[in-house]
Amino acid sequence: MRDLPVISHPNLLVGIETADDAGVYKLNDDVALVQTLDFFTPIVNDPYHFGRIAAANALSDVYAMGGKPLTAMNIVCFPVKDMPKEILREILRGGLEKIHEANAVLVGGHSVDDQELKYGLSVTGIVHPEKILTNSRAKVGDKLILTKPIGTGIIATAVKGKQAGPNAMETMIKVTSTLNYKASQVMLKYETHACTDVTGFGLGGHLLEMARASHVEIAINTEKIPIMPEVKKYALMGLIPAGSYATKHFCEHMVEIKPEVETVFTDLIFDPQTSGGLVISIKPDQADACLHELIDEGIQSAAIIGEVIGPHPKGKLQISYS
Ligand code: CO
Ligand code: CO
Ligand code: CO
Repeated sequence: MRDLPVISHPNLLVGIETADDAGVYKLNDDVALVQTLDFFTPIVNDPYHFGRIAAANALSDVYAMGGKPLTAMNIVCFPVKDMPKEILREILRGGLEKIHEANAVLVGGHSVDDQELKYGLSVTGIVHPEKILTNSRAKVGDKLILTKPIGTGIIATAVKGKQAGPNAMETMIKVTSTLNYKASQVMLKYETHACTDVTGFGLGGHLLEMARASHVEIAINTEKIPIMPEVKKYALMGLIPAGSYATKHFCEHMVEIKPEVETVFTDLIFDPQTSGGLVISIKPDQADACLHELIDEGIQSAAIIGEVIGPHPKGKLQISYS
């Protein structure tokens, strides 16, 4: 979009220029619209679970901005002639279940005949214009809480290579189909300065986006990062999605990796996630209380993974071990 003449508007509070999770448009002093769209190809073989995961992933961008989803629309690409309709029905059933769990309503959608199956949602939510959370207000001293374990891309790669064990697959389905609803509700009770969800650019890429947008240096400790079962093993076997290398390469000059960090961890940190957790940049004296409340709410993998260690004009990420 960089070269295109995008027109701004005084009501547009969050637009396309900040690489944020969703767009925000102010309707009046009390209400702003939060809008987002996400869809992708299956990462699991079961259509019902794929539907749940894709919907949870799309809804997540509204939660990451501190918003409340209200309406959703299906977006579907489906090989009508080559696949039984029952598969599509199962995908949509899974998606609808998550829309309802989010207390949102399905208002329509659009489908096209396409050789490659894809599914997702366009979601519209609301947020108070003064309570929007973006990735651009992380403050020096903040602690960073991650609410879900990482490893989706690597497990999905293992699934494709028929190498994934049942435990890894089950955990991945459970983690990715979990809404960020509760995590968002908890973080809104505390002095949260910035938030984003972890998706295609991996934990490292999204942290770096936060660092760049907030003009800070973020430091994370790989020992503290929650990781799904068997992921390290698969990564050591070389089951790493191409996207991981691409993001790592793109981010390289803005990332400092301490010599004690095992190479495999850098692959994990840049592993593209689907429907990942929230990264919450929170006032340091509130981090422990927020973490405990997250765990009490059933978000058991939540962990403090690092902090904002200083100002940095261009944004920087430092990765260390202990
Ligand atoms: Co997002
Ligand atoms: Co998104
Ligand atoms: Co239409």
